Amino acid sequence: MLITGGAGFIGSHVVEECLAHNYEVVVVDNFSSGNIDNLSINCKVYQIDINDAHLKHVFEVEKPDIVIHLAAQASVMKSIEDPIADGEINILGTLRLLEYARIHNVKKVVLASSAAVYGNPLEIPIDEEFPLNPLSFYSLSKWSGERYAQLYESLYGLPCCILRFSNVYGPRQNPQGEAGVVSIFINQLLNHEEIVIYGGQQTRDFVYVKDVAKACFRAIESPTTGIFNISSSSETSIDDLFSMTSLLAGISIEPYKYPLRQGEIQNSVLGNEKATNELGWQNIHSLHDGLRETILSYHK
Ligand SMILES: NC(=O)c1ccc[n+]([C@@H]2O[C@H](COP(=O)([O-])OP(=O)(O)OC[C@H]3O[C@@H](n4cnc5c(N)ncnc54)[C@H](O)[C@@H]3O)[C@@H](O)[C@H]2O)c1
Repeated sequence: MLITGGAGFIGSHVVEECLAHNYEVVVVDNFSSGNIDNLSINCKVYQIDINDAHLKHVFEVEKPDIVIHLAAQASVMKSIEDPIADGEINILGTLRLLEYARIHNVKKVVLASSAAVYGNPLEIPIDEEFPLNPLSFYSLSKWSGERYAQLYESLYGLPCCILRFSNVYGPRQNPQGEAGVVSIFINQLLNHEEIVIYGGQQTRDFVYVKDVAKACFRAIESPTTGIFNISSSSETSIDDLFSMTSLLAGISIEPYKYPLRQGEIQNSVLGNEKATNELGWQNIHSLHDGLRETILSYHK
């Protein structure tokens, strides 16, 4: 099995999940945001870019029967600053992987996509049939990857599962830059830093990274293909998230409040019934339990 982006936040949990089920795991990662320390010694690692000509050699040598594609330029801000670099990684890189997967008769491709493809939802919860409206080059490049995968499936019979993740949080999430709000809050609380909340009543759908890793595993085990929301299906406001995190960390800091930033989505929650019914996946961790585990991981 080949996992791209395996040294990243989500990828490293997917690697662990697959190793725990005795899969032989090969990781391709250029370590642009991933970290070698996230990886177990029980997997083989190629430090290369997915657009590197050497990727062809990896397929020839390793002959993977399954590909889980998580490597990506995952920042909305960077995609606006440099749409070409974003497209090269998220569109061209994905296309390259699909083409090698086709040539080498891969049995299943699992592709990481994002709730960002839906844009600003007109109604919630959002199901997989909801009209797409990418509002950044990142969401557009993720959608392009989805469309390439769907065409590879319909033209060549390459079985693909596309997983649209909501807001993923958990251990190993990088708190730098444009990271998930959970890791930002935990870091600020533990370092007793100033905390700023823009808005606070806007809601998001937080899904724990270990549940996401299990969804990737279900997607490779199940014969089903298609598009699936991977989410908690529950809505939490940023204010409530902050209170919960602060309570669990046992640290109380009064955050500075500013108005909601322009362009920010008000409410987002993804329905996960399709993944539950067709992939046999279940979102196990409550936000409370996931946050507790995440905070504990900072003390290890
Ligand atoms: N974190 C979230 O909340 C979230 C939500 C929706 C979708 N996703 C998607 O999930 C996937 C994983 O995201 P993450 O949060 O773990 O991000 P991450 O940045 O931690 O992981 C991405 C990994 O890919 C590697 N990588 C990046 N560009 C590469 C390239 N050109 N060649 C080889 N390796 C490369 C990085 O080094 C890193 O290890 C991405 O596809 C992202 O778009 C994440």
